[in-house]
Amino acid sequence: MPIDTSPWLADPKTLPERSASALARSMKGSTILAIAGEVLDLKARGVDVANFTIGDFAPSEFRVPPLFLEHLQRAQGEGQTFYPPAVGTPELRAAVRDYYRRVLGLSFPEGTIQVGSGARPLIYAAFACLVDPGDTVVYQVPSWNTEYYVDLNGAEGVALVARPEHSFMLTADDIAPHLQTARLLVINSPQNPSGTAISRAAMKAISDAIVTENRRREGTGERPLYLLYDMVYWQLTLQDVEHITPIHANPEMARYTVLVDAISKSWAATGVRVGWAACPPWVLAPMKALIGHMGAWAGRAPQIATARTLAEISPMEPWSKTFRAEVAKRQLALYNGFTSMNAEGLPVYPVKPEGALYVTARFALHGASFKGQKIETDEDIRHLLLHEAGTAIVPFVTFGYPDGTGWVRFSIGAVSGAEVEAALDRIAGLLRSL
Ligand SMILES: Cc1ncc(COP(=O)(O)O)c(C=O)c1O
Repeated sequence: MPIDTSPWLADPKTLPERSASALARSMKGSTILAIAGEVLDLKARGVDVANFTIGDFAPSEFRVPPLFLEHLQRAQGEGQTFYPPAVGTPELRAAVRDYYRRVLGLSFPEGTIQVGSGARPLIYAAFACLVDPGDTVVYQVPSWNTEYYVDLNGAEGVALVARPEHSFMLTADDIAPHLQTARLLVINSPQNPSGTAISRAAMKAISDAIVTENRRREGTGERPLYLLYDMVYWQLTLQDVEHITPIHANPEMARYTVLVDAISKSWAATGVRVGWAACPPWVLAPMKALIGHMGAWAGRAPQIATARTLAEISPMEPWSKTFRAEVAKRQLALYNGFTSMNAEGLPVYPVKPEGALYVTARFALHGASFKGQKIETDEDIRHLLLHEAGTAIVPFVTFGYPDGTGWVRFSIGAVSGAEVEAALDRIAGLLRSL
């Protein structure tokens, strides 16, 4: 008979709160996952819901590049199943450098690429290795998860509200009042949740300001200001939109930038867990130690397969073109649908998507009533769209944005073109009835 542990694990009375560390007690779970859970419950009960909530893909809609799948299976068959080096395999580190040189026009020297199991451990490690408790981290709202990394590191977060007229991106003017005190600035482009991208002019102004500030600090001996630039969606930049890095804007930013990237979104490979950071060697050294201690490296076979695929793939070859076109098709269908509703006089205001998996729109419904219920908060709007239009979305309040604006995010990786069209019809019907 196996030893039954369940009596010891049921009804632990005060044991949980007496056990948890301060960190464990302060940690917040992901609200998006909670919303996504509600959608799955509805679907399980047979309700027809278009799931625009999570920033992931459904295998019915998107698959990894067949070339990558072949390499993945081959690498496992070859016995590439042992510990990789904590910094990443030499093959993948070299392949990333070569890929960036060919495709992004950026040349990084050896010793600047740190591999991790997707983007998250690299973001966490960059925070932990650059930011002390009490240090100021400047970031924007809406933003994906930055506040969690701020909290996990005991940092002082300065959340700046990014404005729709600036494509929900921060400007150098927004950052200026915090430039002298900040230790880390976090930017993500193309951006989750807005689906917009930073312009060359904005990136140039921010990069120049950081370089100038760091020259001043060099004189005083203060610790420098770093930029964490999360570009996991850069390969999903829409046609005619430029993807720009701080290093393109000002090459001196190579000293002060941790650039984070992954195959998760660009190859629809969120569950494979391969990412990397390109950063100065003195930042990489402690990140490597931390990633090693956490065992947060990517598996050896996925690393080898990523290296081999990177050598053969480019954003212009057929798989990438089709993949990007399918993502863009869904984004533009939503955008065009909302634009038509707006032209009809319905209270929806979309933002033209520029990249990533997202479309942003404002539902100006506050003060309206539905079935005798007054719509007062953004959560009321989410609830209304979910239960009355079978459309599951995530409001910007979930990404730290002030409540009452009506801005929401649609994520398109798990829906078909037909589901997009059906959801648009249901939303238009609901709005006409208000
Ligand atoms: C902006 C951004 N960065 C990073 C990630 C996480 O990437 P990964 O799955 O590679 O950890 C996400 C996932 O949604 C994201 O939206």
